Amino acid sequence: MARSALLNVMVQAVKKAGRGLARDFGEVENLQVSLKGPGDFVSAADRRADKVLIETLSRARPGYGFLTEESGEIPGSDTTHRWIVDPLDGTTNYLHGIPIFSVSLALERDGQIVAGVIYNPILDELYVAERGAGAYLNDRRLRVSARRDLSNSVIAGGLGKLSTDARVRFVRENTFAITEAAGLRVNGSAASDLAWVASGRLDGYWQHGLSPWDMAAGLIIVAEAGGLVSDAQGRQAMMQTGSVVAGGAPIHRKILDAIRKAGAVVAD
Ligand code: IPD
Ligand code: CA
Ligand code: CA
Repeated sequence: MARSALLNVMVQAVKKAGRGLARDFGEVENLQVSLKGPGDFVSAADRRADKVLIETLSRARPGYGFLTEESGEIPGSDTTHRWIVDPLDGTTNYLHGIPIFSVSLALERDGQIVAGVIYNPILDELYVAERGAGAYLNDRRLRVSARRDLSNSVIAGGLGKLSTDARVRFVRENTFAITEAAGLRVNGSAASDLAWVASGRLDGYWQHGLSPWDMAAGLIIVAEAGGLVSDAQGRQAMMQTGSVVAGGAPIHRKILDAIRKAGAVVAD
């Protein structure tokens, strides 16, 4: 697969950040048993990855702005372009030595996401998509799952941060996945979940309380793999509301209906 110049720049940046995270992950596994634990070390690894991404991307595309989880908004001289960056998505997994985490990078042009890259350096899985050009895992073209019934579908849900409304909503909404689906997974990395919906590993996914950097790359990767993505109301306001429902068309619909029903039951 021949990649565009833009995707090459993005892939180079996430791979460099990912290599650093993979190196530090080995150390995290050693620190598990220490009294102090790996907390500070992981924060430093996260910031290092953020710095690598900002430096690499600024060199390749001077003037583009940034929105990163670790550095916030960094305005650029080119106001039409903005990188949206989560240097480490799945921090709790990383901290616990669980190898489900990703670097997530998207490019926004005039407010629209035009490219996304998600990289898990432990599995060496690189998901890429550019608007209108399809989605790929390494060199393989992706297509979302074609399953139509919950009974043979694996659905992922996300908890969101501790003590937030997202957790309350998860508790309220997850019954359909437990009682009607083949399986419910809570993987702890929104970016990885969206990448796995794109690759058909997961048949569907829903979560509330997300930030733009958790989802920006995943949204375009799922869409380019032929999936549907919306917010909890079925609209396209994912980045504004922080809610995401994703999957192939039939399962996307079923998740939307189920969470709507769960909300209504509680409201009566
Ligand atoms: C978190 C992960 C997690 C999701 C949280 C996010 P972080 O991102 O994506 O799966 O449930 O809402 O904040 O903190 O690991 O970058
Ligand atoms: Ca995140
Ligand atoms: Ca993060």
